[in-house]
Amino acid sequence: MSGVNEIRSGFLDYFARNGHTPVESSSLVPRNDPTLMFTNAGMVPFKNLFTGAEKRDYVRAASSQKCVRAGGKHNDLDNVGYTARHHTFFEMLGNFSFGDYFKEQAIALAWELIVKDFALPKDKLLVTVYHDDDEAFDLWKKIAGFSDDRIIRIATSDNFWSMGETGPCGPCSEIFYDQGEALQGGPPGSPDEDGDRFLEFWNLVFMQYEQVSPGQRVPLPRPSIDTGMGLERVAALMQGVHSNYQIDLFRALIHAVAEATGVDPDGPMQASHRIIADHLRASSFLVADGVLPANEGRGYVLRRIMRRAMRHAQMLGARDPLMWRLVPALVREMGAAYPELIRAQALIEETLKLEETRFRVTLARGLTILDEEARDLQAGEKLSGDVAFKLYDTFGFPLDLTQEALRARKIGVDTTAFDAAMQRQRAEARKAWTGSGESATETVWFAVKDKAGSSDFLGYDTEKAEGVVTALVRDGALVEKLSAGEKGCVILNQTPFYAESGGQVGDTGVLHGPKVRMRVENTSKKVGDLFVHEVVVEEGEVTAGLALELEVDHERRTAIRANHSATHLLHEALREVLGDHVAQKGSLVAPDKLRFDFAHPKPITDQELAEVEDIANQVVLENAPVVTRLMAVDQAVESGARALFGEKYGDEVRVVSMGGGARRAFSVELCGGVHVSRTGDIGLVSIVGRSAVAAGVQRIEAKTGMAARRHLNAEARVLRDLSGLLRAPVEDASERLAAVLEERKKLERELNEARKKLAMGGGGSAEQPGRQIAGVNYFSRAVSGVEMKDLKSLADEAKQTIGSGIVAIVGISADGRAGVVVAVTPDLTSRFNAVDFVRLAAEKLGGKGGGGRPDMAQAGGPDGAAAETALAAIADLLEQRAG
Ligand code: ALA
Repeated sequence: MSGVNEIRSGFLDYFARNGHTPVESSSLVPRNDPTLMFTNAGMVPFKNLFTGAEKRDYVRAASSQKCVRAGGKHNDLDNVGYTARHHTFFEMLGNFSFGDYFKEQAIALAWELIVKDFALPKDKLLVTVYHDDDEAFDLWKKIAGFSDDRIIRIATSDNFWSMGETGPCGPCSEIFYDQGEALQGGPPGSPDEDGDRFLEFWNLVFMQYEQVSPGQRVPLPRPSIDTGMGLERVAALMQGVHSNYQIDLFRALIHAVAEATGVDPDGPMQASHRIIADHLRASSFLVADGVLPANEGRGYVLRRIMRRAMRHAQMLGARDPLMWRLVPALVREMGAAYPELIRAQALIEETLKLEETRFRVTLARGLTILDEEARDLQAGEKLSGDVAFKLYDTFGFPLDLTQEALRARKIGVDTTAFDAAMQRQRAEARKAWTGSGESATETVWFAVKDKAGSSDFLGYDTEKAEGVVTALVRDGALVEKLSAGEKGCVILNQTPFYAESGGQVGDTGVLHGPKVRMRVENTSKKVGDLFVHEVVVEEGEVTAGLALELEVDHERRTAIRANHSATHLLHEALREVLGDHVAQKGSLVAPDKLRFDFAHPKPITDQELAEVEDIANQVVLENAPVVTRLMAVDQAVESGARALFGEKYGDEVRVVSMGGGARRAFSVELCGGVHVSRTGDIGLVSIVGRSAVAAGVQRIEAKTGMAARRHLNAEARVLRDLSGLLRAPVEDASERLAAVLEERKKLERELNEARKKLAMGGGGSAEQPGRQIAGVNYFSRAVSGVEMKDLKSLADEAKQTIGSGIVAIVGISADGRAGVVVAVTPDLTSRFNAVDFVRLAAEKLGGKGGGGRPDMAQAGGPDGAAAETALAAIADLLEQRAG
């Protein structure tokens, strides 16, 4: 058993046999510890188990934990490549007891493993203990049978382990291996202990305290055990090599570098090979855990690691981007133990390729400038801070890359001047911002950003994390605290809360800690990437520096994910059905629905809508994985990803694709939003509304998943009610309703007829003759219960009846008003004008005017009670005119 993979599984098996639960390595981005940049020890994921804040169903665990020591408290970046045992990324094997066994069993378990399973020779081993830890001293004596000189007491912090400024801690005992006189170095505690001869490979920490704050240490609820064995180191011992870089795993990686560059891995360029191999692991594992190169925070540490390796790739003469070509070798070596590498292989390769392609554009030119500027400097002198800043700002050289490039010549960098140049640039940016007309309340965010830096967004991978409060804002000003009942804004060093952008609404949820609880009502983004949590403090008081549990409203976020992914599906489906002119004009992705506006000249038909919905739901049923990659904007657009016209994108963008099988994804869009992991998670897409919002811009609204189901169920309920009322099965209901409505129209018509008849003839024959006035037939009626619009047709009928003469009808409405129609048969229009009669009648009815033609005129008035008077007045006038 001596290959890295065998040692790892051998360790885990051994502890499983001894009652330990094997626990998978957790992410390099600590979820439960906001004070850490990266997971840097095996105990990090278990921190809350030691302190008692969290309970799990095991009290013994073992793991092989991915660790990165770069950019945080334990920072090994500068040493990597130049020593036998420093790494940015390494694996820590550990066994843990959470209040279960303590020192004695920890020592016994460790001893048995190394001398039996790992078969390391006893006489090469020695240990250290904390200077006053007599118990550990005696236990080693008893269990390992060591003589006193092989148990070395150490008084320094080397034998008191703490994870950081705060957290669990305790005295520790380290196990060393004597690699023999051929190597330089003395035993631990001696002046030349830093040599390579005595190699520390396993640290047993007797966890007894929690450092609550720099000045305060409290006992843990129960003494516990945390151990950490460097897998690479123990592999070196077991494989009989003196450098971690000679173990099987690193030999394979370095072999891949040598193959790709043709440079001897053991020659003068040895350090470059090692740096590339080490940094390949750190970069790949960080990308697999969701970190992407950026200019701040974790992303910047990753970028520094990547670019350091890329400079060495260039030094090895690589003409093209090299790092991405090494990924398959890494996946071969480590993919079985860490399947996340396999899952993220494409993303890792693309990210490395993109970064190296971009960096190579400025790398050579930057190195030339660096050479020129440093040519005349002597050992011990410093490169100007302004030059280092120019290399940083214009050529993308992280400061440590410049420092490293000068290190061999023992030339330093004026970092004070470098920092000053950085400050000046920030001030300029701020001036540009304040001059751009933003209101005073907005300028506070610049101050916040200066104080707090930007926030790391963790929300693509998790909806729950811890974060430290970096700043608080109330009413547009920085404040020291927010208390119960107050509203304000909380800025955190990292957050899983999505800030409103790209149409997707901001997350809501809760932030809480010991004795404090806040409701997050919205999350928004300010000055680029400052995540602002708009909160109401429900309980307690929040101050800067406080560590909080951050929890997004999961149900709401799940619905938002589904709606966002459905928006992409509908966008593509609309293009398929309506044509390529369909361009997104706006969108809203909310928890309860989505809205999508797009360019299309005419309203969409039912048929088109049904097709769009079908296509989207087909992709849902495919249950295809939703894949997110990071690409350069141009490359993304070239590859066919849909980008929004007028939208501002950074240099690198997230590209989300879904559906459509291996060769071509159904939908590919640039998008910073959150999405489901598989299209099936959308459940169902249902278009629930459509409208036109502006000339040439159509809108659809849709719901997904449960919301869609509820909506459709509500509609189905209405339909069932209708079918009950109509006494027809659901499928016949619309036909039945149409028949009922038709029937109703018919009945209305008949009713009207009957009313008219009733009005004109009292139900008898319509032949009721009028009387004659001066030889002219005069037909007059006052009617009620007939609609005003029907008066004219009544008059026409009466005209027919009398053949020749004058017809006058006053209709009295339900509210007592009157309308009057006067008709003159054609033979008489030369003698009588209907308008004259109607005007006279209107006057009597309390109205005015009236109009029409000589053969038919109408008017109205408020006084229906004067109907008979009006008719009599017409008769009088007729008599006058006819006479
Ligand atoms: N947590 C201990 C270490 O990192 C084991 O060394």
